[in-house]
Amino acid sequence: MRLILLGPPGAGKGTQAQRIVEKFAIPQLSTGDMLRAAVSAGTEVGKRAKAVMDAGKLVSDDIVIAIVSERIDQPDCAKGFILDGFPRTLVQADATDAMLKAKGLDLSKVVEIRVDDEVLADRVSGRYTCANCGAGYHDTNLKPKQEGVCDRCGSTHFKRRPDDNRETVVTRLQSYYKETSPLIGYYHAKGKLASVDGMADIDRVTTDIEKILESA
Ligand code: AP5
Ligand code: MG
Repeated sequence: MRLILLGPPGAGKGTQAQRIVEKFAIPQLSTGDMLRAAVSAGTEVGKRAKAVMDAGKLVSDDIVIAIVSERIDQPDCAKGFILDGFPRTLVQADATDAMLKAKGLDLSKVVEIRVDDEVLADRVSGRYTCANCGAGYHDTNLKPKQEGVCDRCGSTHFKRRPDDNRETVVTRLQSYYKETSPLIGYYHAKGKLASVDGMADIDRVTTDIEKILESA
């Protein structure tokens, strides 16, 4: 299965991708995570991407297309993958088509997670992740079962993203509407689009996505 999760910052792409990984045993390819890893590692790509990401703007198409193209050639992607945060521009969408075509593959589905703008800033500013295993949490919506201890790996170390503040969220939303939302029509026209109500609780959204994937 080759799936794209589409939605604004804080829609729940990463949260749902982690659950699909467990259920369908295919990897999550988050361009945001890959770029953050490059920033932490201090690579050339990371150095170029850092200021752009901190400002909430989009990293250049060339950089992200190269990262994804390399990643989907890895053996763990042979049975499929979940693209989380990519493609994000029409240029990236065309590149995705070309990459898959070159391998004789097709997209299974594009799932758009719809969320009202008003809740996004709260979701993003309350988000944190386990510094050890990357499991995602939220100050009020999704707390670990035992306070301060990761449910998945037991670590007591958590981290927050530098771009998760209310000011940057505004720029990220603007980028989403300007650059990414045209992909909704793009994939609808290809007959690949399905939408879920991302305002529902996390488990409900998962069930809705699973139903779509089971019939894909
Ligand atoms: P990226 O990391 O992709 O960030 P984003 O798109 O802004 O999305 P988020 O990760 O903020 O949101 P999400 O939808 O994953 O939400 P989550 O599940 O965590 O990109 C970061 C930056 O990298 C970009 O700004 C750009 O600079 C660069 N970049 C990345 N990809 C790029 C590309 N392709 N091209 C160019 N540049 C690129 O959920 C958020 C919170 O809400 C969590 O705390 C969660 O617990 C909670 N939550 C989730 N679902 C629900 C629910 N249903 N109800 C209540 N709470 C919920
Ligand atoms: Mg994410």
